[in-house]
Amino acid sequence: MKYLTFALAKGRLAKTAMEMFEKIGIECKEMQDKDTRKLIFVNEELKLKFFLSKASDVPTYVEYGAADIGIVGKDTIMEEDRKLYEVLDLDFGKCKMCVCGPASAKELLNDGSMIRVASKYPKIAKDYFYNKKHKTVDVIKLNGSVELAPIVGLSEVIVDIVETGTTLRENGLEVLEEICPLSARMVVNQVSMKMEDERIKKIISDLQKVI
Ligand code: PRP
Repeated sequence: MKYLTFALAKGRLAKTAMEMFEKIGIECKEMQDKDTRKLIFVNEELKLKFFLSKASDVPTYVEYGAADIGIVGKDTIMEEDRKLYEVLDLDFGKCKMCVCGPASAKELLNDGSMIRVASKYPKIAKDYFYNKKHKTVDVIKLNGSVELAPIVGLSEVIVDIVETGTTLRENGLEVLEEICPLSARMVVNQVSMKMEDERIKKIISDLQKVI
């Protein structure tokens, strides 16, 4: 039997996903060692391999078949836009992709003014403003702490993830428009879905029972 390889977005997503896998009898003891520097973990009995990677790399590993299955947020799937199948909404890691800024920026979103939009998600931001709102904007790519941008005058608004809304509130910003809901998803390599059809479909149906 061939190994089935899982790529998990490291951090909270991977932890919750492994808890979910344990409920359906898929476990990996090696992974529970918090001090390990190992990058890949094996369950010999079930012929499964697991590795953790930066969230934005998960769709890449899955598209190229280095991983058969990926667990990653919908935000990353949308931003990376890789060729893969999104097969299951895991219903955790729920949050929203939003346009945020100071209340005073709300009117700028629907008039003809040219605005700057800072985001870790330039593709999602462009798609929203160009294709949904038909508004030309200047999208500025940032890599983190995006809420800073409107505060220091880099941009009028941001496109970012809002979970509890605490970061916005504590910085005098608010949700101006909601783009879409987000959550953790299971994605599958397109060839693996055919070649390992039975094993993968079993995992999907078992997961559906515990979601
Ligand atoms: C994310 C997101 C927001 C924050 C939202 O950032 O980009 O900044 O969480 O959460 P909240 O609504 O519960 O406050 P993350 O912690 O991933 O780090 P980053 O600032 O480096 O993007």
